[in-house]
Amino acid sequence: MAKHIGIIIGSLRKDSFNRKLAQNIQKLITGDAEASIIEIGGLELYNQDYDDFDQAPQSYKAFRKTMQSVDAVIFITPEYNRSIPAVIKNALDVGSRPYGKSVWDGKPALVISSSPGAFGGFGANHQLRQSLVFLNMPTVQQPEMYLHHVNECFDAEGNIVNQDILKMLKTAADALQKMLG
Ligand SMILES: Cc1cc2nc3c(=O)[nH]c(=O)nc-3n(C[C@H](O)[C@H](O)[C@H](O)COP(=O)(O)O)c2cc1C
Repeated sequence: MAKHIGIIIGSLRKDSFNRKLAQNIQKLITGDAEASIIEIGGLELYNQDYDDFDQAPQSYKAFRKTMQSVDAVIFITPEYNRSIPAVIKNALDVGSRPYGKSVWDGKPALVISSSPGAFGGFGANHQLRQSLVFLNMPTVQQPEMYLHHVNECFDAEGNIVNQDILKMLKTAADALQKMLG
């Protein structure tokens, strides 16, 4: 049966480089798998009361249902102040509850961070990985994906032109697909 990979993007910016990366990596998923972007910008800020009093917003219900249906997750994120953007942490928290019903549990993951700067979002990448350990998501270890100078990666249509970067993304996508069996 075809495997479904969900892609979560840590930026809400309309011209986001990370969204462009996501659109490029979608095309690199081959074989019996397909990938789609799962939007997280409409999720209310997590408040435990929603779950404790059975008042989860519609956005939570829809997100949790979608995430339950995916077999693996690709996180593509910028770094904000040497950490992960709040939107991505919020999505992790929403998906992790109600207690015992985490949508993340056991799902293979790939983490890609990027930056127009020189460090490629290393800090965000590893802070995200810290949460994924607790959420029990086996995560691709190699290749590590810290994409620096990401603003220079794309042509006018948003396609990645640098063959080395494309090759690296393909290797990472293949490593994730291998974990899916
Ligand atoms: C609040 C904020 C904090 C940022 N902090 C960092 C940072 O710690 N490290 C970094 O490399 N870039 C940082 N940046 C720059 C982002 O890497 C840059 O805006 C990038 O384009 C965001 O990704 P996007 O294009 O997908 O929106 C920061 C940007 C913002 C708005």
